[in-house]
Amino acid sequence: MVKGFKNASELDFTILSNKEAMLQAFAQVDEEKGQEYPLIIGGRRVMTDEKITSIAPATREVVGKVSSCSKELADKAIRSAHEAFKTWSKVPVEERICCVRRLVELMHRERYILDAWSVEESGKNWGEADGELCEALDFFNSYIMHTRELDKGLELVDSEEATKCVYTPIGVGVAIPPWNFPLSLLAGMAIAAVITGNTVVCKPSSDTPIVAYKFVELCERAGFPAGVISFIPGSGSVIGDFIVQHPLTRFVNFTGSKVVGLRINKMAAEVSEGQRWIKRVVAEMGGKNAIIVDSSADLKRAASGIANSAFSFQGQKCSACSRAIVMSDVYDEFVDEIVACAEELKKQQGSGRDNLPMGPVINKAAFESITGYIEIAGKEGNIVSGGKYDDSEGFYIEPTVVRDITRGARIANEEIFGPVLAVIKAESFDEALEIANDTEYGLTGSVYTEDRTNIQKAKTDFHVGNLYFNRKSTGAVVLQHPFGGFNMSGTDAKTGTRDYLTNFLNLKSVCEDL
Ligand code: NAD
Ligand code: ALA
Repeated sequence: MVKGFKNASELDFTILSNKEAMLQAFAQVDEEKGQEYPLIIGGRRVMTDEKITSIAPATREVVGKVSSCSKELADKAIRSAHEAFKTWSKVPVEERICCVRRLVELMHRERYILDAWSVEESGKNWGEADGELCEALDFFNSYIMHTRELDKGLELVDSEEATKCVYTPIGVGVAIPPWNFPLSLLAGMAIAAVITGNTVVCKPSSDTPIVAYKFVELCERAGFPAGVISFIPGSGSVIGDFIVQHPLTRFVNFTGSKVVGLRINKMAAEVSEGQRWIKRVVAEMGGKNAIIVDSSADLKRAASGIANSAFSFQGQKCSACSRAIVMSDVYDEFVDEIVACAEELKKQQGSGRDNLPMGPVINKAAFESITGYIEIAGKEGNIVSGGKYDDSEGFYIEPTVVRDITRGARIANEEIFGPVLAVIKAESFDEALEIANDTEYGLTGSVYTEDRTNIQKAKTDFHVGNLYFNRKSTGAVVLQHPFGGFNMSGTDAKTGTRDYLTNFLNLKSVCEDL
Protein backbone atom coordinates (compact mmCIF):
# COMPACT_ATOMS: atom_id res chain seq x y z
CA MET A 1 0.00 0.00 0.00
CA VAL A 2 1.37 3.45 -0.93
CA LYS A 3 1.46 5.65 2.16
CA GLY A 4 1.49 9.45 2.33
CA PHE A 5 -0.20 10.07 -1.02
CA LYS A 6 -3.64 11.52 -1.55
CA ASN A 7 -5.34 12.01 -4.92
CA ALA A 8 -6.54 15.54 -5.74
CA SER A 9 -10.31 16.12 -5.49
CA GLU A 10 -12.32 17.48 -8.39
CA LEU A 11 -14.23 20.74 -7.97
CA ASP A 12 -17.94 20.48 -7.29
CA PHE A 13 -19.53 22.85 -9.80
CA THR A 14 -22.95 22.58 -8.17
CA ILE A 15 -21.51 24.85 -5.45
CA LEU A 16 -22.42 28.39 -6.46
CA SER A 17 -19.04 29.96 -5.67
CA ASN A 18 -17.25 27.36 -7.84
CA LYS A 19 -19.68 27.94 -10.68
CA GLU A 20 -19.23 31.70 -10.44
CA ALA A 21 -15.44 31.37 -10.40
CA MET A 22 -15.66 29.29 -13.58
CA LEU A 23 -17.88 31.87 -15.31
CA GLN A 24 -15.41 34.59 -14.35
CA ALA A 25 -12.60 32.49 -15.82
CA PHE A 26 -14.51 32.26 -19.12
CA ALA A 27 -14.83 36.05 -19.11
CA GLN A 28 -11.04 36.26 -18.69
CA VAL A 29 -10.56 33.82 -21.60
CA ASP A 30 -12.84 36.00 -23.74
CA GLU A 31 -10.73 39.07 -22.96
CA GLU A 32 -7.56 37.31 -24.05
CA LYS A 33 -9.06 35.47 -27.03
CA GLY A 34 -7.40 36.03 -30.40
CA GLN A 35 -3.98 36.88 -28.93
CA GLU A 36 -0.69 35.69 -30.36
CA TYR A 37 1.71 33.54 -28.35
CA PRO A 38 5.48 33.06 -28.76
CA LEU A 39 7.73 30.02 -28.63
CA ILE A 40 9.74 29.69 -25.40
CA ILE A 41 13.31 28.62 -26.11
CA GLY A 42 16.02 28.74 -23.46
CA GLY A 43 13.85 31.15 -21.43
CA ARG A 44 13.47 33.57 -24.36
CA ARG A 45 10.18 34.46 -26.06
CA VAL A 46 10.39 34.10 -29.85
CA MET A 47 7.60 35.26 -32.17
CA THR A 48 7.61 33.76 -35.67
CA ASP A 49 5.75 34.94 -38.78
CA GLU A 50 4.16 31.58 -39.38
CA LYS A 51 1.33 30.88 -36.95
CA ILE A 52 -0.79 27.92 -35.85
CA THR A 53 -4.41 28.99 -35.40
CA SER A 54 -6.23 27.37 -32.51
CA ILE A 55 -9.95 26.96 -33.20
CA ALA A 56 -12.68 26.42 -30.59
CA PRO A 57 -14.44 23.17 -31.58
CA ALA A 58 -17.73 24.35 -30.07
CA THR A 59 -18.01 27.52 -32.15
CA ARG A 60 -15.29 27.41 -34.83
CA GLU A 61 -14.06 30.76 -33.47
CA VAL A 62 -10.36 31.58 -33.27
CA VAL A 63 -9.06 31.01 -29.73
CA GLY A 64 -5.62 32.40 -30.48
CA LYS A 65 -2.56 32.11 -32.69
CA VAL A 66 0.65 30.44 -31.63
CA SER A 67 4.04 30.91 -33.26
CA SER A 68 5.04 27.92 -35.38
CA CYS A 69 8.58 26.68 -34.86
CA SER A 70 11.01 26.20 -37.76
CA LYS A 71 13.72 23.52 -37.89
CA GLU A 72 16.37 26.17 -37.10
CA LEU A 73 14.54 27.24 -33.96
CA ALA A 74 13.85 23.63 -32.99
CA ASP A 75 17.58 23.02 -33.24
CA LYS A 76 18.16 26.00 -30.92
CA ALA A 77 15.65 24.60 -28.45
CA ILE A 78 17.36 21.19 -28.33
CA ARG A 79 20.79 22.82 -28.00
CA SER A 80 19.65 25.12 -25.18
CA ALA A 81 18.10 22.10 -23.42
CA HIS A 82 21.45 20.32 -23.84
CA GLU A 83 23.26 23.28 -22.23
CA ALA A 84 20.71 23.52 -19.42
CA PHE A 85 21.11 19.78 -18.74
CA LYS A 86 24.74 20.35 -17.72
CA THR A 87 23.64 22.31 -14.64
CA TRP A 88 20.07 21.07 -14.02
CA SER A 89 21.21 17.43 -13.83
CA LYS A 90 23.48 18.42 -10.91
CA VAL A 91 20.85 20.39 -8.99
CA PRO A 92 20.03 18.51 -5.76
CA VAL A 93 16.82 16.49 -5.88
CA GLU A 94 15.16 18.56 -3.13
CA GLU A 95 15.71 21.77 -5.13
CA ARG A 96 14.15 20.21 -8.21
CA ILE A 97 11.26 19.03 -6.05
CA CYS A 98 10.85 22.60 -4.75
CA CYS A 99 10.11 23.80 -8.30
CA VAL A 100 7.47 21.07 -8.70
CA ARG A 101 5.89 21.96 -5.36
CA ARG A 102 5.64 25.61 -6.42
CA LEU A 103 4.06 24.40 -9.67
CA VAL A 104 1.46 22.47 -7.65
CA GLU A 105 0.64 25.66 -5.71
CA LEU A 106 0.38 27.72 -8.89
CA MET A 107 -1.86 25.16 -10.57
CA HIS A 108 -4.19 25.30 -7.55
CA ARG A 109 -4.19 29.11 -7.72
CA GLU A 110 -4.83 29.21 -11.48
CA ARG A 111 -7.18 26.24 -11.49
CA TYR A 112 -10.30 27.89 -12.91
CA ILE A 113 -8.52 29.74 -15.66
CA LEU A 114 -6.64 26.60 -16.74
CA ASP A 115 -9.93 24.66 -16.75
CA ALA A 116 -11.57 27.42 -18.79
CA TRP A 117 -8.84 27.41 -21.46
CA SER A 118 -9.09 23.65 -21.65
CA VAL A 119 -12.88 23.79 -22.13
CA GLU A 120 -12.49 26.46 -24.80
CA GLU A 121 -9.69 24.84 -26.76
CA SER A 122 -10.56 21.11 -26.50
CA GLY A 123 -14.37 21.20 -26.18
CA LYS A 124 -14.46 19.36 -22.84
CA ASN A 125 -17.09 20.05 -20.23
CA TRP A 126 -16.08 21.52 -16.87
CA GLY A 127 -15.84 18.24 -14.99
CA GLU A 128 -13.66 16.65 -17.67
CA ALA A 129 -11.36 19.69 -17.67
CA ASP A 130 -11.03 19.77 -13.89
CA GLY A 131 -10.56 15.98 -13.76
CA GLU A 132 -7.63 16.47 -16.08
CA LEU A 133 -6.15 19.17 -13.88
CA CYS A 134 -6.45 16.80 -10.89
CA GLU A 135 -4.64 14.12 -12.87
CA ALA A 136 -1.79 16.57 -13.52
CA LEU A 137 -1.59 17.40 -9.78
CA ASP A 138 -1.58 13.68 -8.97
CA PHE A 139 1.26 13.11 -11.43
CA PHE A 140 3.31 15.87 -9.80
CA ASN A 141 2.73 14.64 -6.25
CA SER A 142 3.42 11.02 -7.15
CA TYR A 143 6.60 11.96 -9.01
CA ILE A 144 7.80 13.98 -6.00
CA MET A 145 7.33 10.91 -3.80
CA HIS A 146 8.96 8.49 -6.26
CA THR A 147 11.90 10.79 -7.00
CA ARG A 148 12.77 10.91 -3.31
CA GLU A 149 12.61 7.10 -3.19
CA LEU A 150 14.73 6.69 -6.31
CA ASP A 151 17.30 9.14 -4.94
CA LYS A 152 18.17 6.52 -2.32
CA GLY A 153 19.46 4.29 -5.12
CA LEU A 154 19.06 0.55 -5.51
CA GLU A 155 19.29 -1.70 -2.44
CA LEU A 156 22.32 -3.98 -2.66
CA VAL A 157 23.69 -6.91 -0.67
CA ASP A 158 26.42 -6.36 1.93
CA SER A 159 29.96 -6.43 0.60
CA GLU A 160 33.53 -5.74 1.72
CA GLU A 161 33.72 -2.86 -0.73
CA ALA A 162 31.83 0.45 -0.61
CA THR A 163 29.24 -0.09 -3.29
CA LYS A 164 26.32 2.01 -4.47
CA CYS A 165 23.93 1.86 -7.36
CA VAL A 166 22.49 5.29 -8.10
CA TYR A 167 19.96 6.67 -10.55
CA THR A 168 21.26 9.42 -12.83
CA PRO A 169 19.43 11.60 -15.36
CA ILE A 170 20.07 10.81 -19.03
CA GLY A 171 19.76 14.03 -21.04
CA VAL A 172 17.46 15.99 -23.34
CA GLY A 173 13.98 14.63 -23.88
CA VAL A 174 11.25 15.49 -26.31
CA ALA A 175 7.64 15.48 -25.02
CA ILE A 176 4.97 15.02 -27.70
CA PRO A 177 1.42 14.88 -26.27
CA PRO A 178 -1.95 14.47 -28.04
CA TRP A 179 -4.68 17.11 -28.00
CA ASN A 180 -7.25 15.18 -25.97
CA PHE A 181 -5.55 15.62 -22.57
CA PRO A 182 -3.70 18.82 -23.41
CA LEU A 183 -2.82 19.65 -19.82
CA SER A 184 -2.37 16.42 -17.87
CA LEU A 185 -0.45 14.44 -20.47
CA LEU A 186 1.94 17.25 -21.40
CA ALA A 187 2.38 18.13 -17.72
CA GLY A 188 2.97 14.51 -16.69
CA MET A 189 5.43 13.86 -19.50
CA ALA A 190 7.39 17.08 -18.96
CA ILE A 191 7.55 16.93 -15.17
CA ALA A 192 8.53 13.23 -15.09
CA ALA A 193 11.52 14.20 -17.22
CA VAL A 194 12.65 17.27 -15.33
CA ILE A 195 12.05 16.14 -11.76
CA THR A 196 14.49 13.31 -12.48
CA GLY A 197 17.10 15.84 -13.64
CA ASN A 198 16.59 15.83 -17.39
CA THR A 199 15.61 18.75 -19.60
CA VAL A 200 12.71 18.68 -22.02
CA VAL A 201 11.51 20.27 -25.23
CA CYS A 202 7.69 20.24 -25.49
CA LYS A 203 6.01 20.06 -28.88
CA PRO A 204 2.27 20.35 -28.18
CA SER A 205 -0.54 19.31 -30.49
CA SER A 206 -1.53 21.99 -33.00
CA ASP A 207 -5.15 21.64 -31.78
CA THR A 208 -4.41 22.65 -28.19
CA PRO A 209 -1.24 24.77 -28.11
CA ILE A 210 -2.63 27.52 -25.86
CA VAL A 211 -3.33 25.24 -22.89
CA ALA A 212 0.22 23.96 -23.37
CA TYR A 213 1.59 27.52 -23.45
CA LYS A 214 -0.22 28.36 -20.21
CA PHE A 215 1.32 25.31 -18.57
CA VAL A 216 4.88 26.11 -19.70
CA GLU A 217 4.40 29.70 -18.51
CA LEU A 218 3.45 28.37 -15.06
CA CYS A 219 6.58 26.19 -15.04
CA GLU A 220 8.66 29.34 -15.59
CA ARG A 221 6.85 31.06 -12.72
CA ALA A 222 7.50 27.99 -10.56
CA GLY A 223 11.22 28.63 -10.97
CA PHE A 224 12.45 26.03 -13.45
CA PRO A 225 15.59 27.63 -14.91
CA ALA A 226 15.77 28.77 -18.54
CA GLY A 227 16.25 25.89 -20.98
CA VAL A 228 14.90 23.21 -18.64
CA ILE A 229 11.43 23.27 -20.26
CA SER A 230 11.08 24.73 -23.77
CA PHE A 231 7.91 25.19 -25.82
CA ILE A 232 7.98 24.71 -29.59
CA PRO A 233 4.65 24.12 -31.31
CA GLY A 234 4.92 23.18 -34.96
CA SER A 235 4.06 20.72 -37.66
CA GLY A 236 4.59 17.08 -36.70
CA SER A 237 6.00 16.16 -40.09
CA VAL A 238 8.47 19.09 -40.11
CA ILE A 239 9.78 19.75 -36.61
CA GLY A 240 8.33 16.55 -35.09
CA ASP A 241 10.55 14.37 -37.24
CA PHE A 242 13.44 16.79 -36.79
CA ILE A 243 13.45 16.75 -32.98
CA VAL A 244 12.97 12.98 -32.83
CA GLN A 245 15.97 12.48 -35.14
CA HIS A 246 18.17 15.16 -33.54
CA PRO A 247 21.48 13.64 -32.37
CA LEU A 248 21.26 15.42 -29.00
CA THR A 249 17.81 13.99 -28.26
CA ARG A 250 18.26 11.27 -25.65
CA PHE A 251 14.65 10.15 -25.24
CA VAL A 252 11.23 10.67 -26.78
CA ASN A 253 8.11 10.63 -24.64
CA PHE A 254 5.13 10.34 -26.97
CA THR A 255 1.39 9.87 -26.47
CA GLY A 256 -0.88 9.80 -29.52
CA SER A 257 -1.99 7.62 -32.40
CA LYS A 258 -0.51 4.28 -33.41
CA VAL A 259 0.55 5.58 -36.83
CA VAL A 260 2.57 8.48 -35.43
CA GLY A 261 3.91 6.44 -32.50
CA LEU A 262 5.26 3.73 -34.80
CA ARG A 263 6.83 6.35 -37.07
CA ILE A 264 8.55 7.95 -34.07
CA ASN A 265 9.73 4.58 -32.79
CA LYS A 266 11.26 3.79 -36.20
CA MET A 267 12.88 7.19 -36.62
CA ALA A 268 14.30 7.19 -33.10
CA ALA A 269 15.92 3.81 -33.80
CA GLU A 270 17.95 5.27 -36.69
CA VAL A 271 21.29 6.61 -35.42
CA SER A 272 21.92 10.19 -36.54
CA GLU A 273 25.41 11.50 -37.22
CA GLY A 274 27.11 12.43 -33.95
CA GLN A 275 24.58 10.55 -31.81
CA ARG A 276 26.15 8.73 -28.87
CA TRP A 277 23.32 6.64 -27.45
CA ILE A 278 20.39 4.41 -28.20
CA LYS A 279 17.36 6.69 -27.86
CA ARG A 280 14.69 5.60 -25.46
CA VAL A 281 11.10 5.79 -26.65
CA VAL A 282 8.02 5.79 -24.47
CA ALA A 283 5.04 5.57 -26.83
CA GLU A 284 1.51 5.32 -25.46
CA MET A 285 -0.90 4.94 -28.37
CA GLY A 286 -4.47 4.20 -29.41
CA GLY A 287 -7.10 1.64 -28.47
CA LYS A 288 -10.10 -0.30 -29.69
CA ASN A 289 -11.44 -1.02 -26.26
CA ALA A 290 -14.12 -3.59 -25.50
CA ILE A 291 -16.55 -4.07 -22.66
CA ILE A 292 -18.06 -7.54 -22.26
CA VAL A 293 -21.57 -7.98 -20.86
CA ASP A 294 -22.39 -11.54 -19.83
CA SER A 295 -25.77 -13.13 -19.08
CA SER A 296 -25.42 -12.57 -15.32
CA ALA A 297 -24.76 -8.81 -15.59
CA ASP A 298 -26.97 -6.05 -14.23
CA LEU A 299 -27.92 -4.70 -17.67
CA LYS A 300 -28.95 -1.22 -16.56
CA ARG A 301 -25.65 -0.76 -14.75
CA ALA A 302 -23.76 -2.16 -17.75
CA ALA A 303 -25.55 0.15 -20.21
CA SER A 304 -24.92 3.19 -18.05
CA GLY A 305 -21.20 2.36 -17.64
CA ILE A 306 -20.79 1.60 -21.33
CA ALA A 307 -22.58 4.79 -22.39
CA ASN A 308 -20.26 6.75 -20.12
CA SER A 309 -17.18 4.95 -21.50
CA ALA A 310 -18.27 5.36 -25.13
CA PHE A 311 -19.65 8.89 -25.12
CA SER A 312 -18.01 10.97 -22.37
CA PHE A 313 -15.82 13.62 -24.02
CA GLN A 314 -17.50 12.45 -27.23
CA GLY A 315 -15.60 9.14 -27.23
CA GLN A 316 -12.32 10.99 -27.66
CA LYS A 317 -10.38 9.15 -24.97
CA CYS A 318 -7.82 6.45 -25.71
CA SER A 319 -9.61 4.48 -22.98
CA ALA A 320 -13.08 4.92 -24.53
CA CYS A 321 -15.21 1.85 -25.17
CA SER A 322 -16.01 1.40 -28.86
CA ARG A 323 -17.06 -2.27 -28.75
CA ALA A 324 -19.76 -3.67 -26.48
CA ILE A 325 -19.57 -7.47 -26.70
CA VAL A 326 -22.81 -8.88 -25.38
CA MET A 327 -23.96 -12.48 -24.81
CA SER A 328 -26.75 -13.44 -27.20
CA ASP A 329 -29.38 -14.24 -24.52
CA VAL A 330 -29.27 -10.66 -23.19
CA TYR A 331 -28.32 -8.89 -26.44
CA ASP A 332 -31.69 -7.37 -27.37
CA GLU A 333 -32.45 -6.31 -23.83
CA PHE A 334 -29.00 -4.70 -23.54
CA VAL A 335 -29.48 -2.86 -26.86
CA ASP A 336 -32.74 -1.37 -25.53
CA GLU A 337 -30.92 -0.19 -22.39
CA ILE A 338 -27.97 1.37 -24.22
CA VAL A 339 -30.27 3.07 -26.73
CA ALA A 340 -32.18 4.62 -23.82
CA CYS A 341 -28.91 5.98 -22.41
CA ALA A 342 -27.78 7.34 -25.80
CA GLU A 343 -31.16 8.97 -26.46
CA GLU A 344 -30.93 10.72 -23.10
CA LEU A 345 -27.41 11.97 -23.86
CA LYS A 346 -28.50 13.19 -27.30
CA LYS A 347 -30.74 15.72 -25.58
CA GLN A 348 -27.80 16.98 -23.54
CA GLN A 349 -25.32 18.02 -26.20
CA GLY A 350 -23.85 21.52 -26.50
CA SER A 351 -20.74 23.62 -26.04
CA GLY A 352 -18.30 22.67 -23.26
CA ARG A 353 -19.11 26.05 -21.75
CA ASP A 354 -22.71 24.91 -21.21
CA ASN A 355 -21.25 22.08 -19.18
CA LEU A 356 -23.42 19.37 -20.74
CA PRO A 357 -22.46 15.69 -20.84
CA MET A 358 -21.83 15.76 -24.63
CA GLY A 359 -19.89 18.42 -26.54
CA PRO A 360 -18.28 18.83 -29.97
CA VAL A 361 -15.47 16.75 -31.51
CA ILE A 362 -12.12 18.43 -31.84
CA ASN A 363 -11.88 19.66 -35.44
CA LYS A 364 -13.05 19.40 -39.03
CA ALA A 365 -10.73 16.50 -39.88
CA ALA A 366 -12.03 14.49 -36.89
CA PHE A 367 -15.62 15.42 -37.79
CA GLU A 368 -15.11 14.12 -41.32
CA SER A 369 -13.34 10.96 -40.24
CA ILE A 370 -15.96 10.06 -37.59
CA THR A 371 -18.94 10.84 -39.81
CA GLY A 372 -17.27 8.72 -42.52
CA TYR A 373 -17.26 5.84 -40.03
CA ILE A 374 -20.95 6.49 -39.30
CA GLU A 375 -21.66 6.02 -43.00
CA ILE A 376 -19.71 2.73 -42.93
CA ALA A 377 -21.54 1.71 -39.72
CA GLY A 378 -24.88 2.10 -41.50
CA LYS A 379 -23.71 -0.42 -44.11
CA GLU A 380 -22.01 -2.85 -41.71
CA GLY A 381 -24.82 -2.90 -39.13
CA ASN A 382 -27.96 -1.10 -38.04
CA ILE A 383 -27.81 2.35 -36.43
CA VAL A 384 -30.33 2.25 -33.58
CA SER A 385 -29.56 5.59 -31.98
CA GLY A 386 -27.92 8.80 -33.19
CA GLY A 387 -26.12 8.85 -36.52
CA LYS A 388 -26.79 12.54 -37.23
CA TYR A 389 -24.21 15.30 -37.30
CA ASP A 390 -23.91 19.03 -37.91
CA ASP A 391 -20.85 21.24 -38.32
CA SER A 392 -22.60 24.50 -39.12
CA GLU A 393 -21.61 26.11 -35.78
CA GLY A 394 -19.29 23.63 -34.10
CA PHE A 395 -18.31 20.02 -34.77
CA TYR A 396 -21.27 18.14 -33.30
CA ILE A 397 -21.97 14.42 -33.73
CA GLU A 398 -24.76 12.56 -31.96
CA PRO A 399 -23.90 9.64 -29.68
CA THR A 400 -24.33 6.73 -32.07
CA VAL A 401 -25.14 3.08 -31.32
CA VAL A 402 -24.77 0.47 -34.07
CA ARG A 403 -26.12 -3.05 -33.53
CA ASP A 404 -25.54 -6.27 -35.50
CA ILE A 405 -21.87 -5.51 -36.08
CA THR A 406 -19.77 -8.64 -36.68
CA ARG A 407 -16.20 -9.05 -35.50
CA GLY A 408 -14.61 -8.61 -38.94
CA ALA A 409 -16.32 -5.26 -39.60
CA ARG A 410 -14.20 -2.11 -39.91
CA ILE A 411 -16.31 -0.54 -37.17
CA ALA A 412 -15.22 -3.42 -34.92
CA ASN A 413 -11.52 -3.05 -35.68
CA GLU A 414 -10.42 0.52 -36.42
CA GLU A 415 -9.99 3.23 -33.80
CA ILE A 416 -12.76 5.78 -34.56
CA PHE A 417 -11.98 8.18 -31.71
CA GLY A 418 -15.50 9.56 -31.64
CA PRO A 419 -18.95 8.83 -30.18
CA VAL A 420 -19.68 5.61 -32.08
CA LEU A 421 -20.37 2.32 -30.26
CA ALA A 422 -20.53 -1.05 -32.05
CA VAL A 423 -22.61 -3.72 -30.30
CA ILE A 424 -21.37 -7.22 -31.14
CA LYS A 425 -23.07 -10.53 -30.26
CA ALA A 426 -21.24 -13.47 -28.62
CA GLU A 427 -22.62 -16.98 -28.04
CA SER A 428 -20.50 -17.72 -24.94
CA PHE A 429 -18.20 -15.96 -22.51
CA ASP A 430 -15.20 -17.68 -24.13
CA GLU A 431 -16.24 -16.33 -27.51
CA ALA A 432 -16.76 -12.86 -26.02
CA LEU A 433 -13.18 -12.94 -24.66
CA GLU A 434 -11.88 -14.15 -28.01
CA ILE A 435 -13.60 -11.25 -29.80
CA ALA A 436 -12.35 -8.75 -27.20
CA ASN A 437 -8.77 -9.93 -27.74
CA ASP A 438 -9.11 -10.05 -31.53
CA THR A 439 -7.49 -6.64 -32.02
CA GLU A 440 -3.97 -5.33 -32.46
CA TYR A 441 -4.59 -2.97 -29.53
CA GLY A 442 -4.65 -3.74 -25.79
CA LEU A 443 -5.35 -0.63 -23.77
CA THR A 444 -8.46 -0.86 -21.58
CA GLY A 445 -11.25 -3.38 -21.13
CA SER A 446 -14.06 -4.09 -18.76
CA VAL A 447 -16.45 -6.92 -17.94
CA TYR A 448 -19.94 -6.59 -16.50
CA THR A 449 -20.71 -9.87 -14.75
CA GLU A 450 -21.80 -11.39 -11.45
CA ASP A 451 -20.14 -14.70 -12.31
CA ARG A 452 -16.91 -15.37 -10.34
CA THR A 453 -15.71 -17.99 -12.86
CA ASN A 454 -15.97 -15.44 -15.67
CA ILE A 455 -14.20 -12.83 -13.55
CA GLN A 456 -11.33 -15.25 -12.94
CA LYS A 457 -11.16 -16.18 -16.63
CA ALA A 458 -11.06 -12.54 -17.71
CA LYS A 459 -8.36 -11.72 -15.15
CA THR A 460 -6.01 -14.14 -16.88
CA ASP A 461 -7.23 -14.08 -20.48
CA PHE A 462 -8.39 -10.52 -21.26
CA HIS A 463 -5.19 -8.97 -22.61
CA VAL A 464 -5.25 -5.26 -21.85
CA GLY A 465 -3.10 -2.88 -19.81
CA ASN A 466 -6.08 -1.67 -17.73
CA LEU A 467 -8.79 -4.21 -16.90
CA TYR A 468 -11.90 -3.31 -14.94
CA PHE A 469 -14.96 -5.19 -13.65
CA ASN A 470 -18.47 -3.79 -13.31
CA ARG A 471 -17.32 -0.25 -14.05
CA LYS A 472 -16.52 1.99 -16.98
CA SER A 473 -13.30 1.59 -19.00
CA THR A 474 -12.32 5.28 -18.68
CA GLY A 475 -11.24 7.44 -15.76
CA ALA A 476 -8.05 5.80 -14.51
CA VAL A 477 -6.87 7.53 -11.34
CA VAL A 478 -3.14 8.03 -10.68
CA LEU A 479 -1.69 5.31 -8.39
CA GLN A 480 -5.11 3.64 -8.19
CA HIS A 481 -5.11 2.39 -11.79
CA PRO A 482 -1.61 2.86 -13.29
CA PHE A 483 -2.24 3.50 -16.97
CA GLY A 484 -0.56 2.09 -20.08
CA GLY A 485 -1.35 -0.24 -22.98
CA PHE A 486 -0.25 -3.62 -24.34
CA ASN A 487 0.56 -4.51 -27.95
CA MET A 488 -0.12 -1.69 -30.45
CA SER A 489 -1.53 0.44 -27.63
CA GLY A 490 2.00 1.18 -26.57
CA THR A 491 5.00 0.54 -24.38
CA ASP A 492 2.91 -0.05 -21.24
CA ALA A 493 4.80 2.69 -19.41
CA LYS A 494 2.25 2.99 -16.56
CA THR A 495 2.18 6.72 -15.94
CA GLY A 496 2.28 7.98 -12.37
CA THR A 497 4.40 5.09 -11.11
CA ARG A 498 7.98 4.82 -9.89
CA ASP A 499 8.72 2.45 -12.80
CA TYR A 500 7.63 5.19 -15.22
CA LEU A 501 10.37 7.51 -13.96
CA THR A 502 13.07 4.91 -14.59
CA ASN A 503 12.50 5.45 -18.33
CA PHE A 504 14.35 8.73 -17.88
CA LEU A 505 17.18 7.49 -15.66
CA ASN A 506 20.34 5.41 -15.93
CA LEU A 507 21.50 3.18 -13.10
CA LYS A 508 25.15 3.67 -12.25
CA SER A 509 27.01 1.08 -10.18
CA VAL A 510 29.82 2.63 -8.16
CA CYS A 511 32.32 0.53 -6.25
CA GLU A 512 35.28 1.60 -4.09
CA ASP A 513 37.72 -0.93 -2.70
CA LEU A 514 38.26 -0.11 0.96
P1 NAD B 1 -1.52 12.14 -33.19
O1 NAD B 1 -0.72 10.89 -33.21
O2 NAD B 1 -2.09 12.62 -34.44
O3 NAD B 1 -0.63 13.33 -32.60
C1 NAD B 1 0.02 13.23 -31.35
C2 NAD B 1 1.16 14.22 -31.31
O4 NAD B 1 2.14 13.82 -32.25
C3 NAD B 1 0.76 15.65 -31.68
O5 NAD B 1 1.43 16.55 -30.84
C4 NAD B 1 1.26 15.76 -33.10
O6 NAD B 1 1.56 17.09 -33.47
C5 NAD B 1 2.53 14.95 -33.02
N1 NAD B 1 3.07 14.46 -34.30
C6 NAD B 1 2.39 14.19 -35.45
N2 NAD B 1 3.26 13.75 -36.38
C7 NAD B 1 4.49 13.72 -35.81
C8 NAD B 1 5.78 13.35 -36.26
N3 NAD B 1 6.00 12.91 -37.49
N4 NAD B 1 6.82 13.45 -35.41
C9 NAD B 1 6.63 13.88 -34.14
N5 NAD B 1 5.43 14.27 -33.66
C10 NAD B 1 4.37 14.17 -34.49
O7 NAD B 1 -2.66 11.91 -32.08
P2 NAD B 1 -3.81 12.92 -31.62
O8 NAD B 1 -4.83 13.03 -32.68
O9 NAD B 1 -3.22 14.15 -31.08
O10 NAD B 1 -4.42 12.13 -30.38
C11 NAD B 1 -5.32 11.07 -30.52
C12 NAD B 1 -4.62 9.73 -30.41
O11 NAD B 1 -3.89 9.66 -29.20
C13 NAD B 1 -5.61 8.58 -30.37
O12 NAD B 1 -5.10 7.52 -31.14
C14 NAD B 1 -5.63 8.20 -28.89
O13 NAD B 1 -6.02 6.87 -28.65
C15 NAD B 1 -4.20 8.45 -28.51
N6 NAD B 1 -4.05 8.66 -27.06
C16 NAD B 1 -3.42 7.69 -26.33
C17 NAD B 1 -3.30 7.83 -24.96
C18 NAD B 1 -2.65 6.75 -24.14
O14 NAD B 1 -2.33 7.01 -22.98
N7 NAD B 1 -2.46 5.56 -24.67
C19 NAD B 1 -3.79 8.98 -24.32
C20 NAD B 1 -4.41 9.96 -25.11
C21 NAD B 1 -4.53 9.80 -26.48
N1 ALA C 1 -6.22 7.90 -18.44
C1 ALA C 1 -7.44 8.25 -19.10
C2 ALA C 1 -8.57 7.32 -18.74
O1 ALA C 1 -8.36 6.36 -18.05
C3 ALA C 1 -7.25 8.30 -20.56
O2 ALA C 1 -9.66 7.56 -19.16
